[in-house]
Amino acid sequence: MKQSGSVKWKSPSNIALVKYWGKYGKQLPRNPSISFTLDAAHTITSVDYIYDPETVGPLLNFTFEGKSKPEFKKKILAFLVDIAGEVPVLKHMQLTIDSWNSFPHSSGIASSASSMSAIAMCLVDIERQINKGSDIDLYKASHLARLGSGSASRSVFPKMSIWGEMEKYKSSNKFAIPYHAKIDPIFQTFHDDILIVSKTEKAVSSRAGHALMENNPYAAARFQQAHDNIENLITAMTAGDLDTFGQIVEQEALTLHALMMASSPPYILLEPATLTLISKIQNFRKEQNVPVYFTLDAGPNIHMLYPHSAVAAVSVLLDEIKSYCVDGLIISDRVGNGPDKMEG
Ligand code: PMV
Repeated sequence: MKQSGSVKWKSPSNIALVKYWGKYGKQLPRNPSISFTLDAAHTITSVDYIYDPETVGPLLNFTFEGKSKPEFKKKILAFLVDIAGEVPVLKHMQLTIDSWNSFPHSSGIASSASSMSAIAMCLVDIERQINKGSDIDLYKASHLARLGSGSASRSVFPKMSIWGEMEKYKSSNKFAIPYHAKIDPIFQTFHDDILIVSKTEKAVSSRAGHALMENNPYAAARFQQAHDNIENLITAMTAGDLDTFGQIVEQEALTLHALMMASSPPYILLEPATLTLISKIQNFRKEQNVPVYFTLDAGPNIHMLYPHSAVAAVSVLLDEIKSYCVDGLIISDRVGNGPDKMEG
């Protein structure tokens, strides 16, 4: 029977504390990862759908912030076709999608985690409406988001997620699982100020970077290290141990970039300002005895991590480092509660 409707979801980005780097098969990770779900950096996606058993779909109209974006549309359509086996209603669907990011598109912030998880939430919601189901299946949303962008699988749960197989946590390579119940409260309201060092597109994409792990001579040791680091990080975060948290998280950030530097061909995504900011954060921590740490994504921007109790102290550091950020751009983010359904 023909059915139509609209859904709208807001979904956040996330920042990996232990990084996913290297994949195989269909977006399956070579090692497990664990992340903070963010809040301020998010995507809002609205989908108007017409489901008609006579339609041969999926058919797509796509706009980004109200404007046509053929390169994004192509990517989303390929994703919808790819997952139609898992969401069969898509084969008879006409979709009109608009997507909006809370952060500037050209800010150097990867939007794939928030955008792919927002679409995944919309699709799971639409499937539920058509099949007259009751609850949103977050695991299915995570699974679909992963097929769009691996790290997006971790954006659908509140506060923290683990993605990638670890027997101890009964986690999976196919979807992420929530993980925050035993974590000390100090980490559940953590801040992440994103210091924008460069707005230009990365010289080497994440897709190419993952592929280069296949012949990286340090790959096997790295995959084992990620397992150990998750284990040790969870122990530290359960105990409220900020020092160990900081040490593991900074090691992870630097290891990610060391792996890029050790790839064939080797490459560097860090900028001079990245190194300046890292040393300013580390010196401030030592001199002022303030628990403030950094992590990095696959790019030059810095995620500055600190507990809520350090907000006043860190504001002094923020004043000092703002001038190293492009146009003084700093996105003040913090641990968030995952996707939200929106009205209208
Ligand atoms: O989700 P992808 O394929 O863009 O990979 C992102 C990988 C990192 O952001 C570098 C690390 C991570 O775990 O998010």
